[in-house]
Amino acid sequence: MKLSLRLKFAFFTIFILLLLTAAASLISTIELQKYYRQRITEQLESKLEEILYLLNYTSLGFDSNGNLDYVQLVRYAEILGARLTLVDSAGTVIFDSKVKQDSLIYVENHLDRPEFRQAQQQGIGSHQRTSATVNVPFQYVAVRVPQFSVKKNFKQTAFARLALPVEEVQYVLRQVRWKIFAGGGIALIFMTFLSYYISKKLTYPLSRLAQVAESVKNGSLEAYFERTSSDEVGDLADLLNGMLSKLRQDLVKFRKLEKVRTQFLGNVSHELRTPIFTVQGYLETLLQNPNIDKITLKNFLAKAFFQTVRLNNLLKDLIDISRIESGEMKLNYSYFDVAKWLQKLTAELLPKAQENNLHFKLFADSDSQMKVYGDQEKLSQVIINLVENAIKYNKPGGSVELGFIRKNDLVTIYISDTGMGIEKEHIPRIFERFYRVDKERSRAVGGTGLGLAIVKHIIQAHNSSVIVESSLGEGSKFSFDLKAKSS
Ligand SMILES: Nc1ncnc2c1ncn2[C@@H]1O[C@H](COP(=O)(O)OP(=O)(O)OP(=O)(O)O)[C@@H](O)[C@H]1O
Ligand SMILES: [Mg+2]
Repeated sequence: MKLSLRLKFAFFTIFILLLLTAAASLISTIELQKYYRQRITEQLESKLEEILYLLNYTSLGFDSNGNLDYVQLVRYAEILGARLTLVDSAGTVIFDSKVKQDSLIYVENHLDRPEFRQAQQQGIGSHQRTSATVNVPFQYVAVRVPQFSVKKNFKQTAFARLALPVEEVQYVLRQVRWKIFAGGGIALIFMTFLSYYISKKLTYPLSRLAQVAESVKNGSLEAYFERTSSDEVGDLADLLNGMLSKLRQDLVKFRKLEKVRTQFLGNVSHELRTPIFTVQGYLETLLQNPNIDKITLKNFLAKAFFQTVRLNNLLKDLIDISRIESGEMKLNYSYFDVAKWLQKLTAELLPKAQENNLHFKLFADSDSQMKVYGDQEKLSQVIINLVENAIKYNKPGGSVELGFIRKNDLVTIYISDTGMGIEKEHIPRIFERFYRVDKERSRAVGGTGLGLAIVKHIIQAHNSSVIVESSLGEGSKFSFDLKAKSS
C-alpha cells in the first residue's frame, strides 16, 4: 500500500501522542498509588500507636472485669473510620470490628496474612488486597503488641491490625486516568489538525514539483519549477530548473544538427541527381539513335564521361567529409621538405593551368631549406583543391601563384590568383559544404562546393586556419601557416 507522506506524518504524530498519553497515565497511576499507600500506611500506623496506648493505659475497650468490651471497641473503630482486628499469638482472631462476636469462630486463622507475618518478624507489617472476609479492597497495617500490658486479659492479644478501604483511592486514580485520557483525546484532535496543516505545508512544495515534473514528462520543456520554500525542496527546484535549461540548450543544438543533417542529405541527393540524369539522357539518346554520326557519338560519350568523373569526385569528397566529421580521419604527422613538396605539386598541376591558358608559377622563400610539420598527403589535397579553385575561377590569360614564406618558426603557404575574386559577403560562407557563389559556373567546371569544406577541416586539424583575401574582379589569395623547422 502506498502511503502519502502526509498520512505517514499524521500516523506518526498520533502514534507518538498515544504513546505519551499511555506513559503519562501509567506513571501517574503508579506514583499516585505509591503516594496514597504510603500516606494511608502512615496514618494507620499512628492510629495503631494511639490504640495500643489507649488499650494499654486506659480502660477503653475493657469492661470492669478486665474483659474485652466488644461493643465499645466496635464503636471506637467506627469513630476511627477503620476496621480494627485483634489476633492472638496463634493467629486466632479475638476481635474484628466488622465481624459479629459470635461469628468469630468462623473466621480463619490470620497468621499467614502477609501483614501479620511481616509484623511477626519486623514488629510492623502492611499489605493491600481485597479482603476475603468482607470483599472490599483494603490497606492493612498490623503491629505486634508489646507484652507489658497492665490489663489482665489483654495479654493474649499478640497483634493489632487496622484496615482502611482504599476504594476511594482507586476512585481518585480512575478520575486521574480518565482526565489524562480526556486531555490526550483533546490533544489528539488538536494534533490531527496540526499535523494535517504541517504536513500540507511540508508536502505542498513537493507536490508542486511533481506536477511540473509531470508536465515536463509530457514534453513541455518550457516548464518552470517554482521555488516555494527556501529549504532543501527549494534547492531541488533550482537544481531541476538548471537541468531543464541544460536540456533546452541541448535540444536547440540537437535540432540545429538535425537540420544540418537533413540539409546535407538533400544537397547530396540533389548533387547526385544532376550528373546521373545527364548520363542517363545521353545514353538514352544513343540507344534510340543507333545510326548516329561518329562526331556526335564521340561528343555525347565525352559529356557522359565528364559527368561520371564529376560523380566520382563528388563521392570521393563525400567520403572525405564524412571521415573527417566522424573523427575517423587520422593524420600522419611528420617533418617534410616544403620546397621539394611544392615543386612536385606544381609539376602535377602545371598541365591543368596550361590547359586553361593560365600562367602558373611557384614562389620559393630564399630560405628554402626548411621542413614543415604535418600530414603531407592531406596537405597535398589542400594545395590541389586551392590551386584547382584558382584555376577554375580565373580569367583567360590570368595567372596562379603557389608560394611559401618563412616567418620565424612558421611557414605561410599561399595560393593567389588573378581571377574573378569573391564578394565580401560570400567570403565567410565559401567554407560551408555545398556553398558556391555562382552555382552555374561552379557546376560547369565540375565543382560541388565541398572542396573548401575539406580544406578547412584539414587545416583546422593542423591547429591552423585558412585566411582569405579577395577583391572582386582582381583576384583572391588563400593562405595558411604550418609549423616549420630549418633542416
Ligand atoms: N579562387 C577563387 N576565386 C573565386 N571564387 C572562389 C575561389 N575559390 C573558391 N571560390 C568560390 O567558393 C565556392 C566554394 O568553393 P569550393 O572549393 O568549396 O567548391 P567548388 O570549387 O565549387 O567545388 P569543389 O571544390 O567541391 O569541386 C566556389 O563555388 C566559388 O564560388
Ligand atoms: Mg573547389
